[in-house]
Amino acid sequence: MNGRLVPYAEARVHVLAPAITYGATVFEGIRGYWSKHYDDCLLFRLDEHLERLAFSMKVMRFQSDLEPRTIRAWIRELVRANGQKDEVHIRALAYVSEGPNMFTTAPVEVAIASLARPGRNIGQGGVRATISNWRRISDDAMPPRVKCASNYQNGRLASLQAKHDGYDTPILLSSSGHVAEAPGSCVFLRRGDRLVTPGVTSDILESITRDSVIEIARQRCRVPVEERDVDRSELYMADEVFLCGTASEIVPVSEIDGFRVGDGGVGELTREIATLYGRLVRGELGYPEWFAPVYRDSLGVPA
Ligand SMILES: Cc1ncc(COP(=O)(O)O)c(C=O)c1O
Repeated sequence: MNGRLVPYAEARVHVLAPAITYGATVFEGIRGYWSKHYDDCLLFRLDEHLERLAFSMKVMRFQSDLEPRTIRAWIRELVRANGQKDEVHIRALAYVSEGPNMFTTAPVEVAIASLARPGRNIGQGGVRATISNWRRISDDAMPPRVKCASNYQNGRLASLQAKHDGYDTPILLSSSGHVAEAPGSCVFLRRGDRLVTPGVTSDILESITRDSVIEIARQRCRVPVEERDVDRSELYMADEVFLCGTASEIVPVSEIDGFRVGDGGVGELTREIATLYGRLVRGELGYPEWFAPVYRDSLGVPA
């Protein structure tokens, strides 16, 4: 917390903090993968996550002089201090920690946790999705491209409803009625020989995984990717559908509103992208600028 190593049980904040009362918290979820290739824990696209955190702090008008490079150093130090030599999921939060009312913008504190969390195994099969009757929050009210904790009440409402109704996950439509995203993941569909995903103006978080998937699909799978408005009924028509995000990685969707996607199994392109994504995040496909190693100062050459 604020650069100090604190035991888990002592990582606390006051109940009257604007962070709690008004959701004045922004955050990032970052993954680190153990790379046999580099014999190190590699934090995937850490700098992009920290840029997004800084953007979220700016839009929410948090008053703080903290530089992304300071938080970067704290994150690497934390994983080393925990001695984690495995797969980790890092939570980095910035929040308004004290103050009399909902307009308070300082002091801002930063808390980081590094939890053990193995990657997903796509062999688990697909999830059953439903189109939520809760709409996605919109850019002119609570911008989804800002990763603010209070935005997550929208996905939470939709998730609890979907689970109550017997589904694994909701997919939310934007206020314009187009497909936006799932509560913690972006949406891709395959229609014939192309991949389609809602554009960044579809009330989505500008997902780092989405960007990585577009790169893999275009460069490795040689599949054209369209970023555009997506209709609900296109999901019912799609040959394959998958969700993606840092925490969830690549999640095949096997059914939407009772309509089977493809043959109900894991689609071929979804499987290929999941495999490539698993290699990408472990440093096996290049892109050295996307990795922050934990135990050494620079990536260097593969082991
Ligand atoms: C609402 C939402 N959409 C999409 C994503 C995926 O974003 P990223 O790939 O940057 O983790 C997340 C996860 O952070 C999310 O919370």
